[in-house]
Amino acid sequence: MTNADPDRLDGRRALVTGGTKGAGEAVAHRLRELGADVWVSARTMPAGYPHPDRFVAADTSTLAGAESVATRIADEGGGALDVLVHVVGGSSTPPGGFAAATEEHWLTELHLNLLGAVRLDRALLPAMVAAGSGVVVHVGSIQRQQPLHEATLPYAAAKAALRTYSKGLANELAPRGVRVNTVSPGGIQTLGYEQFVDRIAEGNGLTRDQARQTIFDSLGGVPLGRFATTQEIADLIGFLVSDRAGAIVGAEYVIDGGTVPTV
Ligand SMILES: NC(=O)c1ccc[n+]([C@@H]2O[C@H](COP(=O)([O-])OP(=O)(O)OC[C@H]3O[C@@H](n4cnc5c(N)ncnc54)[C@H](OP(=O)(O)O)[C@@H]3O)[C@@H](O)[C@H]2O)c1
Repeated sequence: MTNADPDRLDGRRALVTGGTKGAGEAVAHRLRELGADVWVSARTMPAGYPHPDRFVAADTSTLAGAESVATRIADEGGGALDVLVHVVGGSSTPPGGFAAATEEHWLTELHLNLLGAVRLDRALLPAMVAAGSGVVVHVGSIQRQQPLHEATLPYAAAKAALRTYSKGLANELAPRGVRVNTVSPGGIQTLGYEQFVDRIAEGNGLTRDQARQTIFDSLGGVPLGRFATTQEIADLIGFLVSDRAGAIVGAEYVIDGGTVPTV
């Protein structure tokens, strides 16, 4: 389907995974602003969620959860998705370096950050391919090229695999009308991040600005002096899934305020 206005998504059907908090919430909101009919998945529907008829509760780090999301999308509304944005991801491995990351931590990070997207794509993309059009965005992380080893090495490795998978998928599906790209944020100013800043400030007797600087220093500096907002992530993704970005395939858009200092 082609829109008269290449920035708009009117008449398009979209799914945003991890769309109830942080960057995902902003992405779902942005795609709605652009006119799309937006489905959201997460484990828990927030109290007072304004679009309960477009919410799928599922743990997409499991095969059964991913399949239940795909089944619901296929059953309701029918037809292929036009837009699939994989935002769900995160890290729960404790600090302590490689030795602290157990088998279970590794599997948890791989299921959440890599295999959830692989499984949903496997279930949902055949319909896009059959329709001959669609757009997919995988949300990665700059850690795929700048891995931090204290607590997030399994996460970084999973995001690296996600990026490689995303690129190969893009090569396979572009000739069949489906565009696939990756968006790799550095830090994002989510509620979780602000709470993290508070904890560092309170735990170390620092101001919030000093606590933020500590976080920036641990990354080797953030030249812009701040992380991206969730709105900035959403605006980038809103562009990438629009017809305006119709020739962008297999790309990785880094949105990190300059955190990764190398080419
Ligand atoms: N935050 C950062 O600084 C940062 C930096 C670089 C990259 N990223 C990447 O950006 C993406 C968004 O991060 P964020 O910090 O904005 O996320 P967030 O605020 O932690 O929100 C995560 C979302 O995913 C859902 N979710 C979590 N685990 C899930 C599971 N097992 N099954 C289904 N849904 C699940 C959550 O809802 P429920 O809890 O209800 O399931 C929520 O909607 C992630 O891929 C992350 O790796 C984040």
